[in-house]
Amino acid sequence: MSGRLQGISNIWITGASSGIGEAVTRTLARGGHRLILTGRRPEPLEALRTLAPDRIASAPADTTSRDSLAAIAGSLEQFGTLNMAILNAGTCEYLDIADYRSDVVEANIHTNVIGTARCLELALPALRRARASGQPATLVIVSSSAWWFPFGRAEGYGASKAALTYFAHALRADLAAEGIDVVVVSPGFVKTPLTDRNDFPMPFRVSAEDAAERIVSGLAKGRCEIAFPKRFTWTLRLLGALPQALIDRMAASMARQGNRQQDHSK
Ligand SMILES: NC(=O)c1ccc[n+]([C@@H]2O[C@H](COP(=O)([O-])OP(=O)(O)OC[C@H]3O[C@@H](n4cnc5c(N)ncnc54)[C@H](OP(=O)(O)O)[C@@H]3O)[C@@H](O)[C@H]2O)c1
Repeated sequence: MSGRLQGISNIWITGASSGIGEAVTRTLARGGHRLILTGRRPEPLEALRTLAPDRIASAPADTTSRDSLAAIAGSLEQFGTLNMAILNAGTCEYLDIADYRSDVVEANIHTNVIGTARCLELALPALRRARASGQPATLVIVSSSAWWFPFGRAEGYGASKAALTYFAHALRADLAAEGIDVVVVSPGFVKTPLTDRNDFPMPFRVSAEDAAERIVSGLAKGRCEIAFPKRFTWTLRLLGALPQALIDRMAASMARQGNRQQDHSK
C-alpha cells in the first residue's frame, strides 16, 4: 500500500531510547509525525519528548515482558489511529566459543525475537483498526544483515536475526490480504552504544543519523526491504553466492583471526 508517511502519521517506535531508534525518532519528529516511544529507561524517552511535547509521548516498557507491554497498550492510540509500528528494540551478545554458554543464545533470541513477537500482540490490533478506517498501516521490523554470512561469535545474534527476518517475511505473506505492509530493515554496522562495545573492525560503518535517514526515506518511498550501506550488503550478497565450501573456509579464517584478537585483548 502506498501513501506511507505522506501525511502526518501516528507511529510507535520501540528501542527509541538510544542508537538507531533515537535517530529515527529525531528524523520523524522533524517531519511533524506523532510518536509514541518505548524503551526500558524512561529518562532518555522523556528527554526526546522535549523535541515536541504535544506530539511525542513516552511509553516505557520491557518489550520481553507481557505485563510491562500490557501496561502501555492504552497509550499506542493516544494521538489517534496507529499507522506504523517500528519494532526496533534489540540487543547483540557475542559468544566466547572457548567458554560456550547457551545463555548468550537465549538472551539474543529472547530480546530480538520474543520481544518483537510480543510487541506485535499490541501493534497488530491497532494496525488493523487503521486499515478498517481506510488508513495505511505499516509494520517495520528492524533485523540485520549480519546473518547473511556466518560470522564467528555471532551464533546467537545471527540466529535471532535470521529468525526475525523469517518471522517478518511470513507475516508479510499473511498480512498482504489485509493491506498491512511489512517492512524489513537490514542494517550493516551502525555507530551506536551497541557497536561501541565491539572490539573488531566494522567495515563501512555508518552513523546512526545516516541510518535513520536511509530508513525513513526508504519507508517514504514505499520500500519493503531496506538494507544498507550498499557496499556492505552487496559484499555479503556476493559472498553468499559462493560455494558453501569456500564460504566455510573464509568464515573459519575470519573466526580464527577474531578469536586470536580476542585472546590478545584478555
Ligand atoms: N548498530 C548496528 O550496527 C546494528 C546493525 C544491525 C541491526 N541493528 C539492530 O538495530 C536495533 C537497534 O540497535 P542499536 O544499534 O540502536 O542499539 P542500542 O543503541 O543499544 O539501542 C537498543 C535499543 O533497544 C532498547 N531495548 C533493548 N532491550 C529492550 C527491552 N527488553 N525492552 C525495551 N527496549 C529494549 C534499548 O532501550 P533500553 O536500554 O532503554 O531498554 C535501546 O533503546 C537492534 O534491533 C539491533 O539489533 C543494529
